[in-house]
Amino acid sequence: MRLNETGVVVQKIRALSRLSQEEFARKIGVSFTTVNRWERNKSRPLPSACSRLIELGQGLGLDPSEMTVLGHSAGVAGMLWSVDTLEGPCQVTFTNLSGVLEPTVFAKALLQNLTIRQKDKDGLVLDMGTGSGVLAIAIALAGCKNVHAVDVSPAALQACVDNAKTNCVEKRIRPIRSDLVDGVSDKYDLVVANPPTFAEENGFPRGSPIDLSFFTGVLGHAFVDRLARSVPGILKPTGRLVMVHPSYLDAVRLRSILEEGGMEMVVVASQRVSLRVYSSVFKKYGYDGQGILGKLVERCLAAGREGLLWRRDADYAFSLDVIEAFKATGKHDN
Ligand SMILES: C[S@@+](CC[C@H](N)C(=O)[O-])C[C@H]1O[C@@H](n2cnc3c(N)ncnc32)[C@H](O)[C@@H]1O
Repeated sequence: MRLNETGVVVQKIRALSRLSQEEFARKIGVSFTTVNRWERNKSRPLPSACSRLIELGQGLGLDPSEMTVLGHSAGVAGMLWSVDTLEGPCQVTFTNLSGVLEPTVFAKALLQNLTIRQKDKDGLVLDMGTGSGVLAIAIALAGCKNVHAVDVSPAALQACVDNAKTNCVEKRIRPIRSDLVDGVSDKYDLVVANPPTFAEENGFPRGSPIDLSFFTGVLGHAFVDRLARSVPGILKPTGRLVMVHPSYLDAVRLRSILEEGGMEMVVVASQRVSLRVYSSVFKKYGYDGQGILGKLVERCLAAGREGLLWRRDADYAFSLDVIEAFKATGKHDN
């Protein structure tokens, strides 16, 4: 916790309110001495005061990203996660990760390569398969004022709501329970997705909410296929889909589905991820990572797919691509 930053934020909120320390203290419901101590970093606001300060700051137009320290100091025992985005460094604190995936290299790759345009900030953004809310929250912290966070899992929506509050962006994020786009009726400037990508086989899924983060259809394509087919219907003419796509799935298939829907697709970034390293993600949630990834290797090799790269010591790597797709007819400007 960065205690020394708390005082600066309190001073900023008070300056915007144009109140003396005494008047400000009355407004928050604490004593003059308390405000004075906060501002000199001699003590830190209690959780109830933090909520009041955040509310006041939001009402005065202060950007949520400038008040995250208050969320952190609100007695939150959370996990702090950092990523360097094209918009600058971003920190998200998670206080609820129950039944959802802790952000992985997939979420990181997407955020590291996401360009956020002014029209995304002022328009409407959709995070499809929000889970912990990581993408929605990072995008809201980057200045997007209207973000819809969709998930089919109630546990995910609860986590997203709780984590959005912790990061002071709950007013910018609307949770929507929906099976992909079935419950979505708006048109978006930007749709982001970190999809589940593993095949349902070998006794998986096993019936826990976290299964939804990994397994989808007999080949692992179901979520991506459905999203690619339906995305033209939920994008504005100049809207974009930005999605992570691993090379053990079939990029040619994705491109052709998108093209059938009148979309063009470009790969904006790629990085290599070792399967051995990724198996630790499965392990964390009690899955047999080696078994699941072993099957994936078998299937890819049998299909003659070039998506996997041989590495030393029986390890393979896949390429994790960040793809951007937009309507071929839409004017695509940055
Ligand atoms: C790989 S996780 C990504 C979570 C988070 N966005 C991230 O980047 O860490 C995929 C998410 O998609 C959700 N999901 C799976 N199937 C879905 C569906 N049919 N409709 C909506 N969400 C779905 C899962 O519940 C899970 O939260």
